[in-house]
Amino acid sequence: MQSAAIAALCVLDLNAAAQFAGESLSRSRDEAQLNQVFSAFLQRQDGAAALARALAAKPPPKRAAEAGLRLMNAGGRRDPQLARVLTEAAGFSSQGIKMTSAEIASFAAEVRSSGDARRGAEIFCRAELGCTACHSVGGQGGNIGPDLNALGTAQPVDFIIGAILDPQKEVKEGYVSVSVVMKNGEEYQGYQVRETGEELVLRDVLQNKEVRLRRDAIKEKRQNGSVMPGGLADTLTRTEFRDLVRFLSELGKPR
Ligand code: HEC
Repeated sequence: MQSAAIAALCVLDLNAAAQFAGESLSRSRDEAQLNQVFSAFLQRQDGAAALARALAAKPPPKRAAEAGLRLMNAGGRRDPQLARVLTEAAGFSSQGIKMTSAEIASFAAEVRSSGDARRGAEIFCRAELGCTACHSVGGQGGNIGPDLNALGTAQPVDFIIGAILDPQKEVKEGYVSVSVVMKNGEEYQGYQVRETGEELVLRDVLQNKEVRLRRDAIKEKRQNGSVMPGGLADTLTRTEFRDLVRFLSELGKPR
């Protein structure tokens, strides 16, 4: 079944669509098509959960799993179940690195003594991590998350490590995302731009544009915390993580 047909079926019967999607993801090698399949589910209420169930039974190939992770990271849709299934299918560990504050302090010392900022810059730009889809550095990159140009002068190394390991712990002001479910089942996630008597205006993160939602068509609205996914460091080796943090900690500092 073609990705456009799967998207249409999502509106009618999510579970059936998820079955077809599982098959389509196993066969397709076309990135645009893979993205279309994943987006269709991420834009429906309960879509990510339905897809996660189907893929848990029939894991997608590594390539498709990576495409899904990329899209989810870039679009800022947080669905822990789907992320877990895809992380495993992509062959990344899904243990979830946890560090105590003492471990963070000793890792920070390692970053300062042996981190390699140049290698870190390359890691920061890897598409599957999604950092550049959300953050800009030197005028390049996305605007879903804050600009990181002066991060190294604004924040200490251990803060940067913590911000990556656990984005929900301290959500930067102005970056709390809101998710809205409409009575017709559509779902939007984004930052609230304004709210009037008639409408709620969101900057939708997945589509990167403003959407105007009629308040009387809204079923449910909730606050979601940061759209930055947790577990990004899980896909890195310790050395890679160290280099990435070194790169970030030098942003804005004179060379
Ligand atoms: C889906 C979008 C998204 C992705 C992908 C993403 N971030 Fe973020 N990031 C955010 C948002 C939004 C915030 C602000 C909210 C918060 O504090 O978590 C943030 C905050 C941060 C902060 C704290 C900045 C500050 O000034 O407090 C750091 C550091 C950071 N991100 C680094 C990274 C790195 C490194 C990557 C890639 C491994 C990454 N982010 C991937 C959206 C993203």
